[in-house]
Amino acid sequence: MTDNPQTIAIIVALDEQNAIGRNGDLLCHLPGDLKHFKKITTGHTVIMGRKTYKSLPKGALPNRTNIVITSDVPENYPGCTVVRSLEEALSRCSDKEKVFIIGGGKLYRSTLYLATQLYLTRIHHTFDDADTFFPEIDFNEWEITGEERHLSNDNPPYDYTFLSCSRKKES
Ligand SMILES: NC(=O)c1ccc[n+]([C@@H]2O[C@H](COP(=O)([O-])OP(=O)(O)OC[C@H]3O[C@@H](n4cnc5c(N)ncnc54)[C@H](OP(=O)(O)O)[C@@H]3O)[C@@H](O)[C@H]2O)c1
Repeated sequence: MTDNPQTIAIIVALDEQNAIGRNGDLLCHLPGDLKHFKKITTGHTVIMGRKTYKSLPKGALPNRTNIVITSDVPENYPGCTVVRSLEEALSRCSDKEKVFIIGGGKLYRSTLYLATQLYLTRIHHTFDDADTFFPEIDFNEWEITGEERHLSNDNPPYDYTFLSCSRKKES
């Protein structure tokens, strides 16, 4: 799978301790981040785990090809392509396209090593009650290609930074 020519990008919002979720939902809903997510992923294929699909308030994301990985039956995922493994998900995508891994924790853990691009939203806060985490990122392996800090508009009251990263080429 390491020879796969697809661009595999991960997009995630994480707090200062890499927390990403709580009770099957996001830690907070940052309007600016939701707009950013929509802008970056629209027109592309998004791959998600079952629990992340179940957390989507309106089901499949519009204007994107939605692929859900689950051992559940496809009927429960309207508007989605349902597959049973990561390999099957990637095989359903063109080898020229940019594919977005959109969570959650389990899927991030099994794809970080494959990804060549990261779109991180670092929320400048630590949530005490999180139960789902992004794996540790070794920033020696990544070049930061974009960084944009946004100040809170008080609702919710957290500043955040958009970071774009590309995996460094092996020398
Ligand atoms: N902050 C963010 O950017 C962000 C983004 C997305 C999600 N989240 C949060 O993350 C949490 C959900 O994450 P999670 O780790 O609990 O669940 P998840 O990764 O969304 O879904 C887990 C399920 O998906 C399937 N799956 C995932 N990876 C697989 C793999 N590599 N191979 C085979 N099946 C796989 C399995 O389904 P079956 O059990 O059906 O076989 C597994 O039980 C929620 O709180 C959500 O809000 C946060």
